[in-house]
Amino acid sequence: MFHELFYPRQAVLVAASSSEKTNITAVEWITPVSEKPPLLCLSLSSSSLTLELICTSMEFVVAIPGEKLKDAVLLCGTTSGKYIDKFEETKLTQVRAKRVSAPLVNEALANLECKVLSYNSEGDHTLIVGEVLEFHPVKEENEAEPLLFSHGGKKLFGMKNE
Ligand SMILES: Cc1cc2nc3c(=O)[nH]c(=O)nc-3n(C[C@H](O)[C@H](O)[C@H](O)COP(=O)(O)O)c2cc1C
Repeated sequence: MFHELFYPRQAVLVAASSSEKTNITAVEWITPVSEKPPLLCLSLSSSSLTLELICTSMEFVVAIPGEKLKDAVLLCGTTSGKYIDKFEETKLTQVRAKRVSAPLVNEALANLECKVLSYNSEGDHTLIVGEVLEFHPVKEENEAEPLLFSHGGKKLFGMKNE
């Protein structure tokens, strides 16, 4: 597939909530797209529960995982929240965000609270442009390496160890 040319890519976690449900998923198709205002864009499959929750609440949280969260990221990226409670399964800890309904992830290196500016269906995915409302920066400087995802090997790794 053409997109394999773009690997390795950073993998992040994206959390979203409705009044009934809170969910979290793994996302690698994500990039900053503006500095002022701070905007990012992510691409979610049309079948994703997270997409549904984001489009309903118009809010989400991006959590930046370090290598310690490798297993949690894989679980969040291989099973839909339609079938399991991924926070319960991964034991990730939810922390109340300041300005959005979706939770921050306590174990993440950093968290971004975002509101949706637009979403558009493109092919089999939906592109979401979000504005970063709050930035909870990297906690531990020495553990700030992002988690990278190599599509070919279906493997997650921290930059430090490869
Ligand atoms: C490392 C990794 C990165 C992923 N990146 C994306 C992505 O960018 N967009 C997407 O739609 N799915 C991506 N996936 C797949 C979704 O996370 C997966 O389909 C998930 O089960 C959707 O869960 P949900 O229905 O709870 O939202 C990724 C999976 C992994 C393991």
